[in-house]
Amino acid sequence: MTAVNISATSNLGESSHTLFVCKTCASVWQDGKRVGESGGEKLLQKLEFLAQDWELRDQFPIQQVECMSACNRSCVVALAAQGKTTYLFGDLAVDDCASAVLECASQYYSKPDGLLPWSERPTALKKGILAKIPPIGR
Ligand code: FES
Repeated sequence: MTAVNISATSNLGESSHTLFVCKTCASVWQDGKRVGESGGEKLLQKLEFLAQDWELRDQFPIQQVECMSACNRSCVVALAAQGKTTYLFGDLAVDDCASAVLECASQYYSKPDGLLPWSERPTALKKGILAKIPPIGR
């Protein structure tokens, strides 16, 4: 009899989750240069602080990015994973959305296809979806 280990495949998929956070969103510009801390950097700090106690912190790394081309809808984050729908969210308020973003990321992690119905998403992420991109190869 041959034993087939299928868990290796699913573990591979689970470890490929990433929360992208634009650190340039809501920047203040003076004379062509960014000044002070941007809204995106503040949001990133809040997310990283909260993620210290997040049960998925090792499986769902936070990755800062320079821009996701949705600059007029700041702040912007994206959820992506191997084999799942990719979501780009905008219009996120710096001060009170970090816990909602991690809650939504937890929902995303628990769904095999990554689909996030409107009715189940945290309030801060019910609006402001900028992109919903199907997984590759389906
Ligand atoms: S500056 Fe954040 S998406 Fe471009």
